[in-house]
Amino acid sequence: MLKQHYQHFLSHHQGKLHMACHSHHFWPDVTREAQLAYWDDSARLADEKWAFFFAEKVPALQRHIARLLSLPDPKQLAFAANTHEFVMRLFSCLPRGKKARVLTTDSEFHSFTRQSQRLAEAGDIELVKVPTQPFASFEQRFIEQAAKGGWDMVFFSQVFFNSAVAVNDLAAMVNAVPDPDCIIAIDGYHGFCALPTDLSRLAGRVFYLAGGYKYAQGGEGCCFMAVPPACQLAPRFTGWYAEFGALAQSRGQQTVYADNGMRFAGATFDFSALYRLLAVFDWWQRDGIEVAAVHAHIQMLQQAFLKQLAIIDSPQLNSQQLLANDLTHHGHFLTFALADAATTSRVADFLRTQGLLTDHRDNRLRFGFAPYHELADINLKVLSDI
Ligand SMILES: Cc1ncc(COP(=O)(O)O)c(C=O)c1O
Repeated sequence: MLKQHYQHFLSHHQGKLHMACHSHHFWPDVTREAQLAYWDDSARLADEKWAFFFAEKVPALQRHIARLLSLPDPKQLAFAANTHEFVMRLFSCLPRGKKARVLTTDSEFHSFTRQSQRLAEAGDIELVKVPTQPFASFEQRFIEQAAKGGWDMVFFSQVFFNSAVAVNDLAAMVNAVPDPDCIIAIDGYHGFCALPTDLSRLAGRVFYLAGGYKYAQGGEGCCFMAVPPACQLAPRFTGWYAEFGALAQSRGQQTVYADNGMRFAGATFDFSALYRLLAVFDWWQRDGIEVAAVHAHIQMLQQAFLKQLAIIDSPQLNSQQLLANDLTHHGHFLTFALADAATTSRVADFLRTQGLLTDHRDNRLRFGFAPYHELADINLKVLSDI
């Protein structure tokens, strides 16, 4: 669909099919110029560069993200190098003096899973996990737990990293939580720039976090979190960026926070990733590239992949092993649960030697699809030799 825009990365991987793009997308060519522009702006502006970044680059990126997600107020977006920072900042808002109650799933990415497990071990939180399988009943089971109430935090993914199964009704999951002060956070990393997402009705209630190195294609180092506009939380884990916009207030006695999303910001990080992400979104806007069109292209590729898989009918890899609930509303990769971790690793290694690059975790083999794939690239003949 957009292959001609990825010549730098593709030229280094000729003869290979990169299907690990759900992990890290190749970077489009515009990001190379952006990386160089970052260097040039740093040289030109030296100490003045931070004022320039915050006056020009940050608002421009905030506007793009707000447009992509239909968020009402771009200023409610905070940036950080990774989503783990935001996870920690949210945890640091939980009430003290009691064991905070956290509702989540068994399929959250490690940034949340490992951190929440450690806090539970330390006795800081009580953790309740709803299994995502069976997928067909997941949303109902999660809603039932949420509706019981007494939660301090509810955290779940828009698209699960270990299956690509997508939540159908985000609003129903959010609205099920009866506790007005409960922090509700959606990890949107596998949804952002993959599934068309409209947060206009949820923005007042949820924190939404995602970042640049997957479907947004800007590479690592720039994540964001949308903060509900009325939020007055004061994260205990805080850095000096969180004070921007609050500088006029008295500082001596009390820790003050920006009156917008920046209250969840941290401290100095490398803004070159922000430049790259901005370059991607500027390009999309210039050329009228919409998430919905990319999504339709990926859905077409996924169907072509599954058709070939059915014809090959390999005992090692087949559609009975596919983890899915509703392929019309699914993330941008297909996940297969193989016999065990050793078989999965062997299959992935074999595919790699044949130029088909995937990734795997435990017994799950994942094939990702990207806008730099064409229908003609989806050639699975190699699967008959596994
Ligand atoms: C669902 C999800 N959230 C977050 C991340 C990234 O987390 P971090 O930015 O903390 O490295 C990933 C990476 O694969 C992910 O799959």
